[in-house]
Order: sequence, then structure tokens, then C-alpha cells
Amino acid sequence: MSAVIAENIIRDRRLAPMQVPPTVVEALDAAERAALTARIQRLLVERDATLVAHYYTSPELQELAEATGGYVSDSLDMARFGTECKSSTLVVAGVRFMGETAKILNPEKRVLMPDLHAECSLDLGCPADEFTAFCDQHPDRTVVVYANTSAAVKARSDWVVTSGIALELVRHLAERGEKLIWAPDRHLGAYVQRETGVDMLLWSAACVVHEAFKADGLRKLRAEHPDAQVLVHPESPLDVIAQADLVGSTTALVKAARDLPARKFIVATDNGLFHKMKQVAPDKILLEAPIAGKGATCVSCAHCPWMAMNGLRNLARVLETGDNEIMIDEAVRERAALPIRRLLEFARQRKRVVLGNNDA
Ligand code: 13P
Ligand code: SF4
Repeated sequence: MSAVIAENIIRDRRLAPMQVPPTVVEALDAAERAALTARIQRLLVERDATLVAHYYTSPELQELAEATGGYVSDSLDMARFGTECKSSTLVVAGVRFMGETAKILNPEKRVLMPDLHAECSLDLGCPADEFTAFCDQHPDRTVVVYANTSAAVKARSDWVVTSGIALELVRHLAERGEKLIWAPDRHLGAYVQRETGVDMLLWSAACVVHEAFKADGLRKLRAEHPDAQVLVHPESPLDVIAQADLVGSTTALVKAARDLPARKFIVATDNGLFHKMKQVAPDKILLEAPIAGKGATCVSCAHCPWMAMNGLRNLARVLETGDNEIMIDEAVRERAALPIRRLLEFARQRKRVVLGNNDA
């Protein structure tokens, strides 16, 4: 990280390892899986509900969403789908900010989640009260926040941004002479700052999954597989991003696996994405980017512990009971909708699709 970037990082908000739960993948035998699947299919119809799942959830949940008229995608596209879907209830299998974003854009719908404790280290690392106080100290700066934030943090922002359009938006704001506050991801912020040279104060949270990718291990793996192309999500450290053939959002990485000519890819993102990549590019070889140095142990092991909290059992339970509804104070919701809509309008004017499977 360059000196300029280090100076601009305002505080280190990475979580301590003990704040990150272990990644526990739901274990079901075949009979239990079949019974739960049939029950969920019946309940989705009875409750007028649609299942919307993120790419990082289990293959079972992704397949069930697609088989029942639901949807699997990246975080904002999940919310966009919610606005088009006719059901009165959305069940969001993902992490809490995704459920909140769905509710912000679809206030008339009931939004349920299998587990409301499914957090995100970026969201946890950016508490609304501290962030608000910080922004208040810099009233001359435009506040740009990543989608991985709470409704309250979005409500304090001027713009919400996704990785797919971050560079373009930041360049546009700089052309207007604006200086920025960027939150919460230090790595994505450092990447955007390096690419654009824009004056940005970076909040300093990180994704526990992507931060763990290791540049040295990646160099070694590339040497062993010189025919592989490297796909990297920009929540990864800069020295990992520096080795990428393509840097992009989850949707962009899926498209790259399908469209780039290479037969083999090294992929630095949550390994939950491999399910969709294998679906769209079944003849390609996918290798996980290394997450730990020699002899080291991993915290997340390339799979988000909070995404793993979504399973068939808790999905069936919330459909049965109606528990785990996302509730957002109406004033906060209305304020949080503004910077999301601003992003959508910016994308529309630029004729860019940020909400849809063309996000790249
Ligand atoms: P996307 O918005 O690209 O789906 O990413 C969400 C996320 O949590 C990445 O770690
Ligand atoms: Fe958050 Fe990282 Fe999990 Fe995505 S993978 S939800 S950024 S902790």
C-alpha cells in the first residue's frame, strides 16, 4: 500500500478473529433434504413468497431459488429482481444488508431472511453512529458508500456504489471537483483510489473472506498453472488485485469465466461463486486462489461464515412462522433509498446496467 493511501485511511475497523463465527455448512442426509425441499416449495406457494439467493449461498439454495421462479445474483441485482417480482413476500438468502436493500427498494413487500444474524464484516466494521460522526467532521466531502452497509449508513451517504461501477462514478465525482469519503472497504477503496488518483478518505473495514487471499501463494499457483487466467474480486488486497487478468464484481467474474477464452481460471472470491461459474462454464477448470501462507490456518477458508448461516432448515422455518422479518424505520428507509436511486439514475444516463446480469 502506498504512503498516500496509508495516510488517508482513517481508522482500522477490521474485526478481531473471535468476532467472526466459524463457517458451519448445514449437513443434511438425502431424505431430510428431499423432505425440506418439498416443504419449502409448498410453503413458497402458500405464502405468496419468492426466494432470492446470493451467489455465495449453498448450491441447494441457489437451485431451489431457480427451480421455484426465484432468482440468484449479486447483491443489488437481487434487490432489482425484488422490484419486478409480483409476490407479496421476498425471502432473501444472503446477508442482512441484502435483506435491508431489498426492503429499502420494496417497502410494500414483506422481506424475510432465514437468519437475521447473517452479518457482513464490512457492515459490522462501519457502525452508523461512528460513521455519522466522522462524516460530520468532513462536511466538504461527498460520502460514497458500498452496498455492503446498513440502511442507516446508506441513509448518511450521498451515493451508494457497487464494485461494477465504482471507478466510473468516482471519476465522475472528481470531474465535478468533489473530494470523497469512501466506506467501508479499505481494499476496494485503495484500488479505486489507485486507479483514479482521486482525493478519498478511506474508512478501514475489510471483508474477512477476500482480505485473506495471499499474493505470495497466488504467485506460486500462477507459476504452476501458467495457462490460467486470474479473476479477482476487488475486496481483495491490492497485491492480489495486481496479479489479476480481470477485476470485477461477482456477476462480472461469472461472465468472465464464461466468456474469456482461457480454459483454466484461478479465482479469488468466495468459493460459493463456483457453483454458478460451473453452471455457465461447465468445460472450464476453476482453481481457488490461496488463502493462507505455509502452515497457517484460515479464518473463513474462502467461504463467508455469514452466508453459510442460510440453510434449508431455517428457510423452511421462516416460511412456516413468518419470523425474521426485516424492519427499517421509515425515515431511514426513505433517506437510504435516495443514494441508491441516484446510482441507478447515473447508471441509466451512462447506459450502463448495474442492476442486472449484464453488470460488469
Ligand atoms: P456483490 O455485490 O458483487 O454480489 O458482492 C457482495 C459481496 O458480499 C462480496 O463479497
Ligand atoms: Fe461481507 Fe465478505 Fe461475507 Fe461478502 S463475503 S457478505 S463482503 S463478509
